[in-house]
Amino acid sequence: MSTFRTEGFHHVTMVSGDASRTTAFYRDLLGLELVKVTVNFDDPSSYHLYFGTRHGAPGTLLTFFEWPSVPRGRWGVGGVHHVALSVADEAAQLKWKRRLTDAGVGVTGPYDRGYFHSIYFTDPDGQVLEIATAGPGYAIDEPADALGRSEVSQPPERLKGTRDEVAIRRATHPDPVPRVTPDMTLSGIHHVTGITDDIARASDFYEEALGLSLVKRTVNQDDRETPHWFWARYEGETVTRGSSMTLFEWRSSPHTARGGTGQTHHVAFRARDGAEQAAWRERLLGLGLGVTDVLDRVYFQSVYFRAPDGLLCEIATDGPGFSVDEPADALGSGLRLPPWLEADRDGIEAALRPLEPAPARPRS
Ligand SMILES: [Fe+2]
Ligand SMILES: [Fe+2]
Repeated sequence: MSTFRTEGFHHVTMVSGDASRTTAFYRDLLGLELVKVTVNFDDPSSYHLYFGTRHGAPGTLLTFFEWPSVPRGRWGVGGVHHVALSVADEAAQLKWKRRLTDAGVGVTGPYDRGYFHSIYFTDPDGQVLEIATAGPGYAIDEPADALGRSEVSQPPERLKGTRDEVAIRRATHPDPVPRVTPDMTLSGIHHVTGITDDIARASDFYEEALGLSLVKRTVNQDDRETPHWFWARYEGETVTRGSSMTLFEWRSSPHTARGGTGQTHHVAFRARDGAEQAAWRERLLGLGLGVTDVLDRVYFQSVYFRAPDGLLCEIATDGPGFSVDEPADALGSGLRLPPWLEADRDGIEAALRPLEPAPARPRS
């Protein structure tokens, strides 16, 4: 077992074909804050947008590279199937179903996944998203102090083919939801679900490289032949919110993920600070993983490496955060560039398409 245990997700980075359209979706429809407008430091001709809660806390961040000319990607082995955001309860989740449906976004669910309830939809590029309730948690079908010890079967009322699809389809909030009310707040990344071709190998990786613990071994409720395992920060008592990585196993599948718009580019996990990150990097090297040098991302420091199935992972420090180059109460207010790109600001700005301004109407 690793001596390092990540607190959970730092951010998830996805690929957008249109930064303004992505901003309209995540800021204006989902009610997240646009906390930073910058460029991809490795490709300064592209936007890098950061959405999250008000101050851009680690664990709440969804970030996007804008690559308009990149074709649409495809999920598969070594990629992310979907990203789930956390909502407080089922009542708020039904409000989201109504709000999204009224906006022309197709929504499926709510499904009782046992450990949480889930609705699904896609963003304008095709990225699959989920809104999941915080609870009831992983201890509903095995003891809280023995999670992940045995394989758990799913009851018929949760499985595709035997669950009540008509009732699921009909369930929604009775009234229109024109604004995101405080009870609907999407409070951060609930879980990330990827696809692997060898779930036992992946389990060793998430335990050894990231210090996560196996907390559930079950099957995909929508495809009961597919194993579905969950890892999280867990030390035998409670599971830390915002730390659940889950994988479907497509054993020996040749269908590998293809990067592109509508797909996740990489998944970042939290390190407390640079010292922890440096020690962690040494451990990853010791495990035989190829790890980059520490890269200065201005708002945090990053190292990158790949899971055995190919998923690009990052370890990002919690600090210094998004207020290093603009006031904390005015995050996302203008294009910010790292010091080494400021000399090229005019050329960089000229190459970027302007973003749509925020709507004048308050969102809550
Ligand atoms: Fe999920
Ligand atoms: Fe990242």
